[in-house]
Amino acid sequence: MSGEGDMCQEGTMTTESWIRCWEDPKMDFTAKTVNKLFTDYHDQMLRKPCTRVLVPLCGKALEMKELMMMGHEVVGIEVSPVACKAFFDENGIKYEAKHIDKIPGTVFEGSKNGVKARLYSCDYYQFSPEIEGGFEAVWDSGGLNSIEEDDDKKRYIEVLKPLMAPGCVNLTELCQISDCPYNISEEELGSTFGDEFNVKLLTDVEAWQEMKEMEVNRLKLYLIDRKSK
Ligand SMILES: C[S@@+](CC[C@H](N)C(=O)[O-])C[C@H]1O[C@@H](n2cnc3c(N)ncnc32)[C@H](O)[C@@H]1O
Repeated sequence: MSGEGDMCQEGTMTTESWIRCWEDPKMDFTAKTVNKLFTDYHDQMLRKPCTRVLVPLCGKALEMKELMMMGHEVVGIEVSPVACKAFFDENGIKYEAKHIDKIPGTVFEGSKNGVKARLYSCDYYQFSPEIEGGFEAVWDSGGLNSIEEDDDKKRYIEVLKPLMAPGCVNLTELCQISDCPYNISEEELGSTFGDEFNVKLLTDVEAWQEMKEMEVNRLKLYLIDRKSK
């Protein structure tokens, strides 16, 4: 997510301001290398071949290409059409664009070696299981973590919960930034997901250099799944 330090505008980011940021060629929110926690822990969420993985607020994250290369279907949600198209263009994947039937927006769909990716350019808060059903896995890095207001974090999690099918494993990365009022504690994460979900801290590591340059001190990775009845 280089460039995130120089925010495109002061104050809370809206979908419109994110769209404008992505239109500025100087802005680049995407890490240059695959997330180390993804590399070390993806086995925990990919429990069978051809898993359908949801990547909320995906930008053009490199982990989506990794998932496709491993044979897993990717569904991303990203408000900026520029970011969606860049993911396909930069990874040499041909794509088609179609209107989304049930909500405003465009879905960009492509495949490589028979493995599909669909990136929904729409407002995450309008997404629901009516569009794609439930998912078997969720990779969330820079999704929940980029939501600033407490009420929006709660809304974000309320949208996510029904998208997690029974047995779904959600890996959520949270960055700890010094003196940042938007840090989410483990207790807050657990209480917002609620009694039906387990929230387990998998690891808590010192941030690597690229993240430290954005004032991130530590990175925590949580595994979130539904409690069995
Ligand atoms: C911090 S970036 C993280 C991108 C990506 N996960 C990564 O790791 O590179 C957050 C992304 O969420 C997108 N976004 C913000 N609000 C959104 C919303 N309401 N619906 C869909 N996408 C949104 C932004 O355009 C931006 O690409």
